[in-house]
Amino acid sequence: MATTVNQYIEQHKDRFLNELLDLLRIPSVSTDKKFKSDIINAANFLKDRLVAAGADQVEVCPTNGNPIVYGEKLIGKDLPTVLVYGHYDVQPADPENLWDTPPFEPTIRNGNIYARGACDDKGQIYMHVKAFEYMISNGQLPCNIKFMFEGEEEIGSVHLAEFVRANREKLKADVILISDTSMISNEVPSIATGLRGLSYMEVEVTGPNRDLHSGVYGGAVENPINVLCEMIASLKDKDGKITIPHFYDKVEELSLEERNAMAEAPFNLEEYKRELDIAEVFGEKGYDTSERASIRPTLDVNGIWGGYTGEGAKTVLPSKAYAKISMRLVPHQTSDEISQLFANHFAAIAPKTVKVKVDFHHGGEPIVVSIDSVAYRAAERACEATFGRKPIPKREGGSIPIVAMFKRELGLDSLLLGFGLDSDAIHSPNEHYGIFNYFKGIETIPYFYQYYVEMSKK
Ligand code: BES
Ligand code: ZN
Repeated sequence: MATTVNQYIEQHKDRFLNELLDLLRIPSVSTDKKFKSDIINAANFLKDRLVAAGADQVEVCPTNGNPIVYGEKLIGKDLPTVLVYGHYDVQPADPENLWDTPPFEPTIRNGNIYARGACDDKGQIYMHVKAFEYMISNGQLPCNIKFMFEGEEEIGSVHLAEFVRANREKLKADVILISDTSMISNEVPSIATGLRGLSYMEVEVTGPNRDLHSGVYGGAVENPINVLCEMIASLKDKDGKITIPHFYDKVEELSLEERNAMAEAPFNLEEYKRELDIAEVFGEKGYDTSERASIRPTLDVNGIWGGYTGEGAKTVLPSKAYAKISMRLVPHQTSDEISQLFANHFAAIAPKTVKVKVDFHHGGEPIVVSIDSVAYRAAERACEATFGRKPIPKREGGSIPIVAMFKRELGLDSLLLGFGLDSDAIHSPNEHYGIFNYFKGIETIPYFYQYYVEMSKK
């Protein structure tokens, strides 16, 4: 009798966990060049694990940035092909002092694996490698698979489009499968049906040509930090609306029917507040918390600095002030257009006392994926088989810019089958991934392939 995926997980549980812990020990942070050798190590690690699991043509493909790990198993020209995408790069771990255990020394506590990248996205890509190992070693692989793991997702996938364009034939597939999103809870599975886009800006406000004595000049010369704060404060009004002219012009308003359907997904506001230790939520008037965090655009300061921030006190009227500001976008808004609107507006509201400079970092387009597809229905059945409950379609607030790019460059839809939870603290200190989620993913993925192939034939 064939070994079931659950039996296989049971037999190899410890090894499956230990291999993931090894991957998590590699600090493959993409923002900072000092981790370049770790980026290479993580890519090589995945290459070796794909080879060991039975993939062919496995290679670490160089790009002008971080390499892309590719591997495939092609078993039949007439069978569908699934392209699995994920990222092995991680966000910086700082502030490191807020971690209970070091970010690159993975630790298991309360059923969770604590480490930077545990959920986003190493834990989730590794589920695919292990599900593949199971299918290969038990003769259960029903279709062609291609793997593509990149190392620049967290910095905007800068070199991926170029790679995709240069390798159209190699990447040919019927659907893209991505696990880099979250689900509602371990009891309530969900499948992501949309992602927001992004415009990430950096601003510099310059006052006097040098730092000044705040007693000698203070009161007579404008302080660029004060100006920056006022400018930022004016970007949103009391109702949480963004004040940049034309910002909402193209925003798609959902129908009441769609909004009512969204509101049926379980959400507990009290628990949400308790988990974040906040007394009240805040957001755009007229929308509830779930809507604010998924179908509505946003503007947030990600970091702000200038002047003296060292120990003790220094009396200084600074010459410069800086901020990093990001906007999350929804369908029909484009990153280029919104970045331009922001830059124009920011320059327009600057008083004559300062000079401003606005730079664009990176961006990505929003996307909505159809639930009326074979892949979605197959994933729905797969979740039903392993969670015992039909998953809920859910639009997510995060961004995976390549989803829109794959659609544009390859004409392919993605299936966003993520197993994380919003409470996994991705991008925050103490990021973690549930052991339950890791194994549930490994268990669910082979069902997806099986149903996808069966349902493609009809
Ligand atoms: N995995 C996240 C995106 C995500 C998280 C989607 C939760 C849905 C739910 C991804 O790794 C990420 O963080 N993306 C960046 C993209 C950016 C750097 C271009 C993001 O959303 O900030
Ligand atoms: Zn991320």
